[in-house]
Amino acid sequence: MNKKKAIYPGSFDPPTNGHIDIINRGLTIFDTIVVSVIVNPSKDALFSVEERKEMLHSVYNSNPAVEIDSFEGLLVDYASQKGANTILRGLRAVSDFEYEFQMALMNRKLNPEIKSVYLMPSPEFTFLSSSIVKEVCSLGGDISCLVPTAVEKQLKKKFL
Ligand code: PNS
Repeated sequence: MNKKKAIYPGSFDPPTNGHIDIINRGLTIFDTIVVSVIVNPSKDALFSVEERKEMLHSVYNSNPAVEIDSFEGLLVDYASQKGANTILRGLRAVSDFEYEFQMALMNRKLNPEIKSVYLMPSPEFTFLSSSIVKEVCSLGGDISCLVPTAVEKQLKKKFL
């Protein structure tokens, strides 16, 4: 088991600068971060899993420490398959806490070997979410400082 590999799971619909902030902070702790997009057909997503992976690739193209992947099923099973014993998540505000706490404890119950680690983003991103970015972009607002350039382009393609 590689102790220095973390899985950073999420919907990433689309990835925001808040996600990038967490990945970059995580890279100061872990040797490798596997950013993994959940394949969840029941959830209404704007972008396909492939499109989301593509956007993440465009940010981390030349960084061998970041692997972009997708997963289905239980997160702890996926983490074990990838040889990782850490799940990385971002915690923006108290409002995130209840959901994250429940998820971390359930994951611990399912597999006590796998630890959950939480990092706080820079304060400028505590208000940021994929949903609010989609809403602002769909209404013609400027999102250039909220998402990577490749994501801005893709969002504009969808909405404009
Ligand atoms: O970005 P999101 O939507 O908050 O990410 C949620 C995610 C993908 C981390 C969570 O839904 C998840 O881990 N799903 C996998 C299913 C699972 O393992 N469930 C049991 C533990 S809660």
